[in-house]
Formats: sequence, structure tokens, C-alpha cells
Amino acid sequence: TARVLSGIQPTSDSFHLGNYLGAVRQWVALQDDFEAYYFIPDMHAITAPHDPVALRERTLISVAQMLAVGVDPDRSTIYVQSHVPEIAQLTWVLSCITGFGEANRMTQFKDKAAKQGTDSAGVGLFTYPILMAADILAFQVDRVPVGEDQRQHLELTRNLAQRFNSRFGETFTVPEAHIVAETAKIYDLQNPTAKMSKSADSDAGLINLLDDPKRSAKKVRSAVTDNEREIRLDWENKPGVSNLLSIQSALTGTPVDDLVSGYEGKGYGDLKVDTATVLADFVAPLRGRVDELMSDRAELDAILARGADRAREVAAQTLASAYDKVGFLPRR
Ligand code: TYM
Repeated sequence: TARVLSGIQPTSDSFHLGNYLGAVRQWVALQDDFEAYYFIPDMHAITAPHDPVALRERTLISVAQMLAVGVDPDRSTIYVQSHVPEIAQLTWVLSCITGFGEANRMTQFKDKAAKQGTDSAGVGLFTYPILMAADILAFQVDRVPVGEDQRQHLELTRNLAQRFNSRFGETFTVPEAHIVAETAKIYDLQNPTAKMSKSADSDAGLINLLDDPKRSAKKVRSAVTDNEREIRLDWENKPGVSNLLSIQSALTGTPVDDLVSGYEGKGYGDLKVDTATVLADFVAPLRGRVDELMSDRAELDAILARGADRAREVAAQTLASAYDKVGFLPRR
């Protein structure tokens, strides 16, 4: 069976709606047809200033959220990145075939480095995409379900795999990004030309899955739209309306065209109220499920221990092969 793999950073107390619709929802769907690997990249999370106590807690609550939305530990391998040391070892090898200029072209690095201040940004932020390539290549993965913002990192990963293979011989599967067009980019409700992100200046346009559903519904009802009245999908002229239509469509499974015909003769108020209701219904059970999962720490630990064992088995094989190909002397 083909393999899928993806990760979500433990940098917040809650996944946001963009994380879910852009990525994690696909993880749930793909675990039926693929051998699936889903993990928490805690090593990526220390590329920005962070609080160690919060990181540990967020790593656990991220796992609980994955489970709460339907990632199944019996079908998918669930693990924490730092539990699989082979990933860091492979990162070194890959970093030696990555061009400095190539790494320097990563737009997410530039954005984040600008935010941290170019002098205080760590080297880890610079090599972040190489660690991500190792995450993927260590598992000989065919598909990587992510949102649009990860596309450039996937391109780098593919280039590194191809380069290594042609320089040292066939070693890595060249992975493909799995990006679902309709939900590849969910936008900030207050600033609908910017992606929904936990690092936005204000959280008024951010929907956290674990927030009080009433609060989230209110945020949707206060979403920025435009000065017209017509409800149609038009990302250029009506980004706010288009964002609400695609969120409602994704959560209900109703095609956008059908939603649009249903709103003929109705106004933005109806669109907002309906989308708010659909969203509130979706998030309502999540907080309780997560609390329940968090209350059984032994069970979470057991899932992660099993996941780490399985993940290490696979990653160790790839690492051994890569070490051999580059000419490291085997220890006898
Ligand atoms: P992260 O933690 O920033 O985001 C997790 C996933 O959510 C997607 N996403 C969005 N999708 C649609 N609309 C949005 N507004 C939105 N915001 C975030 C992201 O594209 C991502 O799929 N570098 C990765 C984590 C990572 C990883 C990996 C992913 C580390 N190693 C290996 C895949 C494979 C990141 O920071 O995602």
C-alpha cells in the first residue's frame, strides 16, 4: 500500500479551522486507503521562541485533537517527532546536499525571519524545511496532505530526493503534495485576503476548534464581507463571501454552486448565520472529546509509544540505506 504522512506543529492550545479543513480532515479520509503516518513536529516548534512547559502540554493536546477529529491509532501510526531520532540524523545528510541559496529562497523562512528579526532568528529556522524533508523522506512517503502554504517545502523535498537519488543511487521515494483545491487556503475572517493563522495580529478572524462554540459562531457572524449584496464565489472581488461559502461547503459537503443557488434573493446575514450555525455544530462536541482523551494520560502515552516504535522501524531502514549510500563505514 502507498503511504501518506503529515504533521501539525504544537504551537497553540487549539488547532484552527485552516489546519483542520486544509490538512487534518484529509488525514482522516486518507487513512482508509493508505498506510498513514501522522505526527507532531515538536522539533519544528522550537525554531521560534517558546515556553517548554507549554510545548509539552501542546504536544499532548495536539495528539488528543487528532484523535478527537477521527485519526484512528489502530489504522494510523501516530507519533511525536522527537521520539524518532533517525529523523534528525537524516536531516544532517540532507542538509549537506541542500544549497544555501536554495534554502534561502523559502518564502516561509523569509516571512518568519522578518518577524523574529533577521539577526535573532535561529539557524534552525533556516534549516526548518530540511528537517521537514527528512520527516517525509525517512518514511518513503507517496503523498503528503497539506495546505497551500506548505507547497514550496514539498517542492524542496522532492528536489532533495531526486538529487540524492541521482547522486548516490535510488534511495528515496519522491513524494507528491496532496492539496485539496477547495480548502487549500482558509482565510482570516476579518482580513479575508490573508490566510487564517495563529500568528495574525488579532485573533478576531481566527476560529480555534476548542473555543466556546458560541464565541466562534459570533466571530463568523462578524466576518468581513463587502459592500455589495450578491452572494457568489468570486475570490478576487468577494474574498470574504467566498471564504464563508467555502467553509460552509466544506463542513456540510454541499457543493458551493448549490449553496449559491440556495442564497438567491437572500442576503449576507443569512450566509453568516448559516455558516456560524454549521460551524458551531461541528465544533460543539470536540472540546468534550479532547478533555476526555486528555484525562487518560496513560492511554495517550501508550498510543505514542506504539507509534514511535513503528515509526522508528521504518525510519531506521531508510537511514541505514542513506548512510550506506553516502559512504559511512558501517559499525561492526
Ligand atoms: P502547520 O503546523 O503550520 O500547519 C498544519 C497544517 O495546516 C495547514 N494550514 C492551512 N490550510 C489551509 N488554510 C490555512 N489557513 C492553513 N493554515 C495552516 C498547513 O498547510 C499544514 O498542512 N511545516 C508544517 C508541519 C510539518 C509537516 C512536516 C507537514 C513538519 N513536518 C512533514 C507535512 C509533512 C507546518 O508548520 O504546518
